[in-house]
Amino acid sequence: MWFFLPNIVSRLVSELQEMAALQTDPRASNTLILESATRASPRRPPARIRCSAAPSPPRSYRITLLPGDGIGREVVSVAKDVLSLAGSFEGVKSNEKIHSIEFRFREVPIGGSALDSVGVPLPEETLTAAKESDAVLLGAIGGYKWDANEKHLKPETGLLQLRAGLGVFANLRPATVLSQLVDSSTLKKEVAEGVDIMVVRELTGGIYFGNPRGFGYNERGEDIGFNTEIYSVPEIDRIARVAFEVARKRRGKLCSVDKANVLEASMLWRKRVTALASEFPDIEISHMYVDNAAMQLIRNPKQFDTIVTNNIFGDILSDEASMLTGSIGMLPSASIAESGPGLFEPIHGSAPDIAGQDKANPLATVLSAAMLLRYGLGEEQAAKRIEAAVANTLNKGFRTGDIFSDGTTLVGCKRMGEEVLKSVDTQTSAVPLR
Ligand code: IPM
Ligand code: MG
Repeated sequence: MWFFLPNIVSRLVSELQEMAALQTDPRASNTLILESATRASPRRPPARIRCSAAPSPPRSYRITLLPGDGIGREVVSVAKDVLSLAGSFEGVKSNEKIHSIEFRFREVPIGGSALDSVGVPLPEETLTAAKESDAVLLGAIGGYKWDANEKHLKPETGLLQLRAGLGVFANLRPATVLSQLVDSSTLKKEVAEGVDIMVVRELTGGIYFGNPRGFGYNERGEDIGFNTEIYSVPEIDRIARVAFEVARKRRGKLCSVDKANVLEASMLWRKRVTALASEFPDIEISHMYVDNAAMQLIRNPKQFDTIVTNNIFGDILSDEASMLTGSIGMLPSASIAESGPGLFEPIHGSAPDIAGQDKANPLATVLSAAMLLRYGLGEEQAAKRIEAAVANTLNKGFRTGDIFSDGTTLVGCKRMGEEVLKSVDTQTSAVPLR
């Protein structure tokens, strides 16, 4: 089984087709009162999602590469090579000629590197290139150098603008404990073994984008900072539907995480998820407060299959879930829009402390490239080939520092990449991970 995918392999194809048919709730059209100008509107009519159709030859794709900052450059460079090689093996015969998958890469700046070169964290050119491409692969953004910048000049602001600009509202973050790495988990083996969770995080709404927000003064004249946690019914419905569909293709269990004992936005969230559950009678739905969910993830993570939650809770819980698996350096993510290119990125950050030292684990980005192939381009075979190559490399005992344990071979980022390339090269068929 591979991450959330033994089944999701075949599944997102149909999932995404079904997502394309999703309708937003017209009754809610005038309930949205504080929509940010930059945030992706959930009310536009859903369009067809690109990766649903079987590809036909010859296949040529435009991939926007956003290496970003810190270790982003190192890991994206590895993933680019792996992507190219995997594509070259996926030839299709047409007019007696073999056409392999061709990628046309365009690298553009984002985050701190964009601040340094252009003066803004998301240059116009970058967003345009991303929108015009078939899929976007991002490394990581941020670093000490820009930490004290004003908000509009922070690298993170560029990433949020990119997510909003692409409208990638559904963020899929798998956290699966691989048998090869179970000893890297800080949890006891019997707790960690077999964990296979998918966090479906709402990505373009909530407190990250809600208005009003800002700095000001309270009635006592004291400085204040404030944000707004806000969700509309269409926003909740579309992410909930994605999550129900994801759960349906997994083990049929969905846990919706909120703070409905305190927050109005969560009360509405719970009400809508409960209402939608009747459309998915085959799914076992449960609701959990976020504080309890944080505890349960450590106490008994195997109780979870699919989790759906808002933007900020998803940010926090997905980091927590990642540590169950041993290293955040292993976990990819896919962010999907209602139409247009998806954004694929490792869930780890730019790790400025090890940047440029050839110590980074490139596997999360390599696996994000596999997700890009599967969910962004519908290239299932090439995705499988990459996943098999990663499994093979781990089976051979190669480990970067973050996943190293006694008896394995410590390698750097480049060498890990070379080993994955060798495994892609040997054209191994899928290697079972458990
Ligand atoms: C993530 C990151 C981002 C987020 C930051 C870098 C803005 O933590 O992708 O989880 O908070 O969404
Ligand atoms: Mg995060």
